[in-house]
Amino acid sequence: MLTIDAISKSYLDGTVQQHILSQLSFSIESGVSVSIRGASGSGKSTLLHLLAALDTPDEGRIWFSDSTIQASKLDIASFSEAQANAYRMSTIGIVFQKYNLIDVISVKENIFLPAKLNAQKGVPLDTDYITKLMADLGVLKHADKLPHQLSGGEQQRVAIARALAHKPRLLLADEPTGNLDSVNSELVSSLLIDTCSKHNTTLILVTHSEKVAALTSQQVFLEQGRLVSTSG
Ligand SMILES: Nc1ncnc2c1ncn2[C@@H]1O[C@H](COP(=O)(O)OP(=O)(O)O)[C@@H](O)[C@H]1O
Ligand SMILES: [Mg+2]
Repeated sequence: MLTIDAISKSYLDGTVQQHILSQLSFSIESGVSVSIRGASGSGKSTLLHLLAALDTPDEGRIWFSDSTIQASKLDIASFSEAQANAYRMSTIGIVFQKYNLIDVISVKENIFLPAKLNAQKGVPLDTDYITKLMADLGVLKHADKLPHQLSGGEQQRVAIARALAHKPRLLLADEPTGNLDSVNSELVSSLLIDTCSKHNTTLILVTHSEKVAALTSQQVFLEQGRLVSTSG
């Protein structure tokens, strides 16, 4: 379960303190997909950065646990740098709007890279699993190509495979299909949601699209710094 407990975050804009997230509380069951919508500037990316331990809230706590990870008393919001690095390497996966693929190495090498880095830390590399993941996401046939030889939708499917290759328990996706046309956006989003569901990976998906949001098991809105649940 992912538990967000009374998180607040503000930024200093000139001399004015901008309150982005205000006492935000929410919890999400493991293995569930949740979409987050909200106006531009409502703090969706800020929230994902906090969940990814890329930034820290001004106040509040965040916990993540599921059947494979012992319920940790450790609060993500107060991780040390080493704990945050380990958490980002092993527990979570991130997909951004920009694919951030490395252009000089093959699709396959891009996908295997984070899992290989984890393998150096003693986590076994599951080649069969990653190959299956690539097949599920329809990118196995592009394995030896360079990223720029693929369409936008295909590149994002590669980025999704890369984000899932180390078997993260939580996948954070920030408008992953924002660059794609609506047909590809829905196609790639449903692949993302189905793949997470198949592996019991908790998914938090920020999207502008109502159609994409409708594919997730729970839909929430970010409004005035708080999450408003709409369904699920
Ligand atoms: N590092 C930062 N420093 C100052 N202001 C920031 C920073 N990150 C985000 N903001 C501000 O916080 C607000 C919310 O941003 P963001 O979380 O990116 O919104 P969204 O993803 O919902 O569009 C915006 O007004 C943005 O300018
Ligand atoms: Mg954003």
